[in-house]
Amino acid sequence: MAGEMSVLGSVVLALFLAGYLGQQYLPPPKPRVVGLDLGTTFCSVAVFHPGIGDVEVIGDEQGRKSIPSVVSFTPTGVYVGYQGQELAHSNPLNTIYDAKRFIGKVFDPEVLEREGARYQFKVVTNNGSAEFLLSTNHTFTVSPEFVSSRLLLKMKMMAERHLGVPIEKAVISVPAEFDERQRNYTIRAANLAGLDILRVINEPTAAAMAYGLHKADVLNVLVVDLGGGTLDVSLLNKQGGMFLTRAMAGNNKLGGQDFSQRLLQHVIEEVRQQYGVLPTRKEDIHQLREAVEAAKLNLTVQQSVVLRTPLEMETKPVMYEAVLTRKLFEELNDDLFQKVLVPVETVLEEGGLSREEVDEIVLVGGSTRIPRIRQIIRDYFGKDPNTSVDPDLAVVTGVAIQAGIMGGSWPLQVSAIEIPNRHLRKTNFV
Ligand SMILES: *[C@@H]1O[C@H](CO)[C@@H](O)[C@H](O)[C@H]1NC(C)=O
Ligand SMILES: *[C@@H]1O[C@H](CO)[C@@H](O)[C@H](O)[C@H]1NC(C)=O
Ligand SMILES: *[C@@H]1O[C@H](CO)[C@@H](O)[C@H](O)[C@H]1NC(C)=O
Ligand SMILES: *[C@@H]1O[C@H](CO)[C@@H](O)[C@H](O)[C@H]1NC(C)=O
Ligand SMILES: *[C@@H]1O[C@H](CO)[C@@H](O)[C@H](O)[C@H]1NC(C)=O
Repeated sequence: MAGEMSVLGSVVLALFLAGYLGQQYLPPPKPRVVGLDLGTTFCSVAVFHPGIGDVEVIGDEQGRKSIPSVVSFTPTGVYVGYQGQELAHSNPLNTIYDAKRFIGKVFDPEVLEREGARYQFKVVTNNGSAEFLLSTNHTFTVSPEFVSSRLLLKMKMMAERHLGVPIEKAVISVPAEFDERQRNYTIRAANLAGLDILRVINEPTAAAMAYGLHKADVLNVLVVDLGGGTLDVSLLNKQGGMFLTRAMAGNNKLGGQDFSQRLLQHVIEEVRQQYGVLPTRKEDIHQLREAVEAAKLNLTVQQSVVLRTPLEMETKPVMYEAVLTRKLFEELNDDLFQKVLVPVETVLEEGGLSREEVDEIVLVGGSTRIPRIRQIIRDYFGKDPNTSVDPDLAVVTGVAIQAGIMGGSWPLQVSAIEIPNRHLRKTNFV
């Protein structure tokens, strides 16, 4: 009996070892679950490769790791991402962006009218839900989830082309403040694109996972997400491998666009002083706006840049040149930068924590590249924030890790399950 047992034991052990060695030496299977970040202004798709134990963000045809969340409808087709964005100027009435601001929401008619007035495309109500009125060969409406589905379909195709396998399953992130309806409509958008959603995770949680904080010995994580137009601050609390959102606050009128605007105003005033007239031609303003945007990006890595742009200036062509320093950029925006701390203080207060009790600070969103903003946060907490992951790709990186867990690439890891917080409200400072 004992002998039989030990024979059986050896067989089991041998099978186990074969399986183990097989796992070690066979090429790992291609990942089939992707992670999706469906952002307001940019979208990305990524996969977790169990073989190399790392996340790969998948590029578009030209290798760009995120695509603009823009969809342009024309009589000949639907153009998505950079192709959609290129049509924004020639086809403004049928080029939809910011669909995420409308998805799954029920609006009062007056609120929707006010929101819709900010766009060149036409926003109409369908019993409280937003729809976009388009006019190509014929007139028709599309829903925010349909627009989102085209972005998701594009990312599905990017992933399939890159990985060489059909992709039908995904994990997707949404803002922590999304309610059940907004989450359902996001899932519906994915379903329309032929994707089955295995899990919806909150964007701040995904960002924390990008830094491996689901495995690290931390309790309280603060996530600061400062993008082009909005600031979102979330306080996460980890309990037994699960992230709970303890408090959220934000400012939906603060972001990179505002910082660029300050610099643009300054440059326009400089042009007036140099040439005696304000630049008023639409094209000149457009040129200056683009140059200022590029200069802002450079000032995150350099102390000064030379802004050089041709202007028509009342039909007399000139080459405008100016040196812009990081110091000037910081002075022009000082009051705006300080505003970043307002929702930070609110979430600490609502979460009942002192700043010393925050174990890790995670920075997300392109505007957190600005050195002065990092410094303001560092000074406030007296420690360095986590910045090693590209702030534009932190969310998709974390979503892909979750997708890897869901896809079984990571059998020995405990997944950071998230408890949706139904009773939490986001405090908004405008
Ligand atoms: C729209 O019109 C163009 C040119 O008039 C035509 O080539 C195209 O097939 C039409 N598209 C649809 C969807 O009817
Ligand atoms: C409009 O919405 C309300 C509440 O959301 C619902 O009760 C009603 O059935 C809807 N009407 C139509 C025509 O869909
Ligand atoms: C969301 O979807 C679930 C599952 O399909 C459903 O049970 C729930 O009622 C939906 N909630 C809302 C608010 O649409
Ligand atoms: C910004 O830097 C890039 C390379 O680092 C350079 O090609 C570009 O001209 C710079 N732009 C400005 C406005 O200085
Ligand atoms: C960032 O996160 C990691 C956890 O993965 C941690 O070890 C590290 O100390 C954190 N802080 C900084 C400033 O990088």
